[in-house]
Order: sequence, then C-alpha cells, then structure tokens
Amino acid sequence: MFSQRILDIDMSEVKRVVSLIKGGNVISFAGGVPSKELFPLKELREAFLEVGEIADVFQYGSTLGFEGLREELLKHLKESQEIHAKLEEIMITHGSQQGIDIIGRVLVDPGDIIVVEAPTYFVALNTFQVYEARFLQVGLDEEGLKTEELESLLRKGEKIKLVYTIPTFQNPSGVTMGEERRKHLVELAEDFDFIIVEDNPYGELRYSGSPVKAIKHFDKSGRVINLGTFSKIFVPGFRLAWLIASEELMEKLEVGKLTTDVCSNTVGQYVTWAFMRKGLLKKHIQRLIEFYRPKRDAMLEALDEFMPENVSWTKPDGGMFIWLTIDDNVDTKEMLEDAVKRGVAYVPGKVFYTLRGGENQMRLNFTFESVERIREGVKILAKLISIS
Ligand SMILES: Cc1ncc(COP(=O)(O)O)c(C=O)c1O
Repeated sequence: MFSQRILDIDMSEVKRVVSLIKGGNVISFAGGVPSKELFPLKELREAFLEVGEIADVFQYGSTLGFEGLREELLKHLKESQEIHAKLEEIMITHGSQQGIDIIGRVLVDPGDIIVVEAPTYFVALNTFQVYEARFLQVGLDEEGLKTEELESLLRKGEKIKLVYTIPTFQNPSGVTMGEERRKHLVELAEDFDFIIVEDNPYGELRYSGSPVKAIKHFDKSGRVINLGTFSKIFVPGFRLAWLIASEELMEKLEVGKLTTDVCSNTVGQYVTWAFMRKGLLKKHIQRLIEFYRPKRDAMLEALDEFMPENVSWTKPDGGMFIWLTIDDNVDTKEMLEDAVKRGVAYVPGKVFYTLRGGENQMRLNFTFESVERIREGVKILAKLISIS
C-alpha cells in the first residue's frame, strides 16, 4: 500500500523515546519545545483583538505571505543577523519544517547528494529522504561544520547538490560555526556550484558571547537559502516561519509552496505582524534569554560537578541543547530504558547520524525543566553512566 520512500523512513527510535517518557514524572532532557510559561498570552490576546475585525485576516493570502509581516521580518533580520534582503526574497512558510520540505520538492532529484552535519537534526534527514536524496555527513567541532573536510570531499570529485547546515547553536550539538568557516563555506558553494541551506531556529537565543552574522550575509551569488522560525522565539502554534532566497530560486520555491498549501495561515500572520510592529518580539526574545540562561548555566554546572572523568560535553553560548559524549563502549540507546526507570530521559545520539555514529552520545535539552530538576536529572544520569 505504501510508497517505498515512506517505508524507508525509520521513526521507531523517536517513537520509542516518546513512549518511554509518556505519563510518568520523568525529568525530561529529551524535548526541544519552548517553555509554555513564557508564551506572551496577554499580548497575543490584544493582537487578536486588534486584527480580528479586518476581513482580509480571514481571506486567502498571497503565496509569499502577508507583506506587512515580511516587511517587519526584514527589519528584524537586518538588525539581528545582518541579512539584507528584498521583499521579493522572503516567503512565509508553515514552520521551517515546511521550508525544508519545499527545498526538497524544488531542488532535489532522486539520487542527488546532500551534505549534512554529523550529527544533525534528524527530521531534516527524514524530509530529504522523502525526495530520495543520498547523504554524506561531514564532521563538526567547536567551530561548527568542518569546511576543510567538505573541501576535500569536493576536491575528490563528489558532486554535491546541497549543504544543509544549522550553523548557530546547532541541533543537536549546540556548537556555532565561526565566521571564517561561514565565509569558506560560501566560497566553496561558488567554486563547486552548490546551494547552502542555512537553518537557524535557535540563533537569537544567545546567553553569552557575541552575535554572529548569518551565512546569508556573506552570500553574493544567491546560493544561500536562509530559514528562520517563530517557533522558538515566539510561539510554535501558528506554525509560522520564513525562507529567504534569491529571486531566481524564489520563483520556483514559490511554486513549491503553492502546490503544497497555497499560502500560510493568514490569521497567524496578521497576529504576529501586530505583535512585531509594536516592538514586542525583541522584548520577548530578551525575556526568553533571561529565562533560559540560568537553566543552561545550571546544566553546565551540574555536569561539571557530577559527571565522571570519561564524559565530555559541548558548552553552547545559546540555543536549547548540550551534546554529551561518553568515552567508553556504552550504547545510549540501550541505556535509555534504565535512565527512564531512574527518572531521567534524553535523546540517544544515534538518531542524529545517517549511518554509523552516536552510540556513545546523547542530546540534552536544558530549556524545559526547572533549575532544581536539571540538577537532579544530571545527578541521576551521572550515576547511571558511572555504573554502565
Ligand atoms: C534545526 C531545526 N530545524 C527546523 C525545525 C522545525 O521548526 P518549525 O517549528 O519552524 O517547523 C526544528 C525544530 O525543532 C529544528 O530544530
């Protein structure tokens, strides 16, 4: 009954993690959803009231999205990431997830090679898999994607269609690509003629260090597609996000969007616009930063205090995740059941790799639990790792 491409996608591990956590009072380091406590409900209600009597709010919208919102976004992105784009170069999508899907629909033929980071966001892998892409994984270190490693692949003659990167506070590792590597990546895209997909849901959640410019900032030849989302900095429920690309690419990406769902939900776009034009988004992001920073600090401190010698982890300046590596022959997939029985959950590293890798690694989210529970959860996990 089912297509081979859907049968080829294995979601069993993710489903297992979800079902293990369900119900109990487990301290969860597994998720990646924003904290509901900080949803700006009062301002949202006011924004709904403000736009609720405009008939266009309930009408079909244009495929690229509501102009007012796109204009607000362009102002915001110029300030926060030094992205300079025109109104014709930004499209509103239903989540960055849809942005990734549209890129797959429009740019990927079966067998095309996509380079992804090792590790990377597994849902993007699954999405590109639907379009029958083949993957090559390139390693990461504290400076992000190892562009030297990518260059040697390209010099060996690999013909690459896309590079998919999450350059800032990467999911799952939390690392950020340095400026030199950003420039290098753009140079490689020009020399070897490929497209860079810069997926940046977490970049504005910075708790320490200095801001970085988007890869899109360095793009002179229209080879970078930038994806951003309201999910982590506002609310995910509207399913609103954006995609920035050259006009040449946008002409076809727009067809990709039209043939998926015609346009993004208009009500959400107007409400988000009403929120943004009062300058509330910037203030809201600042509140999120103040709320999440102590949680990040609490997890880093607890890791330092409780983890045994053979464990190392990343020290992200922002985002939602810390990536932990156990320098031993353990299987974090097998260990998860025991961890949940003891009251703590994480995502096993293996799901973030296309082939081998990640058996001795795990992703820890620090934005969901309270500071006290973070400390308690890390203590439990450390004890389990020590005896495994
Ligand atoms: C790297 C990455 N890209 C895309 C998404 C999808 O976000 P959205 O809610 O905008 O679809 C996520 C969500 O967790 C993510 O981590």
